[in-house]
Amino acid sequence: MNPRALPPTASLASAERHGRLNAAAAERNAAAVIRMVRDVVPATGRALEIASGTGQHIVQLAAALPELIWQPSDVDPARLVSIAAWSADSPLANLRPACRLDATAPGWAEAHTAQDVILLVNLLHLISGDEAQTLIDESAKALAFGGIIILYGPFMRSGVLTSAGDLAFHASLRDTNPQLGFKNDMAVLDMLKAAGLTPLEPVEMPANNLALMARKL
Ligand SMILES: C[S@@+](CC[C@H](N)C(=O)[O-])C[C@H]1O[C@@H](n2cnc3c(N)ncnc32)[C@H](O)[C@@H]1O
Repeated sequence: MNPRALPPTASLASAERHGRLNAAAAERNAAAVIRMVRDVVPATGRALEIASGTGQHIVQLAAALPELIWQPSDVDPARLVSIAAWSADSPLANLRPACRLDATAPGWAEAHTAQDVILLVNLLHLISGDEAQTLIDESAKALAFGGIIILYGPFMRSGVLTSAGDLAFHASLRDTNPQLGFKNDMAVLDMLKAAGLTPLEPVEMPANNLALMARKL
């Protein structure tokens, strides 16, 4: 996916110094995301974050899980600058420079093989169903055997939007582009299976989010 129209609430971040962006949502959910990731990832190996955004999550993840080598990525040049700025503020030997990665472009896995962890936070609702399947298919190729993919974000539960906030946000995405919007949790589990992955038990997260996970066995 390349820059596309989104409602103003979809990807909010305010500018700080040297290109550093600050997303209040990323700060709010960072501790819960890190706890959830820590529970399911291996102690060592390679971890790719897709759509790293401002970089706020990955600098905290790399600090919290120092034996994993963390690779940040995003499609947006401004976000890549922000990730570099956050990384410079917290230099860590296990945090690689951010790279440009369009996770909806077929073929990206070839340049990112042998990942033990692939993490995606808050993107699936901002892309189409077909793009989500491409992202998952490529992730399945990029994972090492035994590796895990973690998809965090807002989802429909068995086709149902389960809070007033979810209903409003989903409607605003659909009004902007009918292909966008919350994915159904069951449909995403099917996408993971279609990509040859084995889904794990979903984890309930704060603010009505879910972490959907699958392993490459
Ligand atoms: C809502 S933000 C989430 C950022 C971060 N993961 C977080 O939770 O704070 C969505 C991010 O997805 C990125 N993005 C959008 N389309 C993408 C694509 N096709 N491939 C990779 N990243 C993409 C945007 O640039 C943005 O940084």
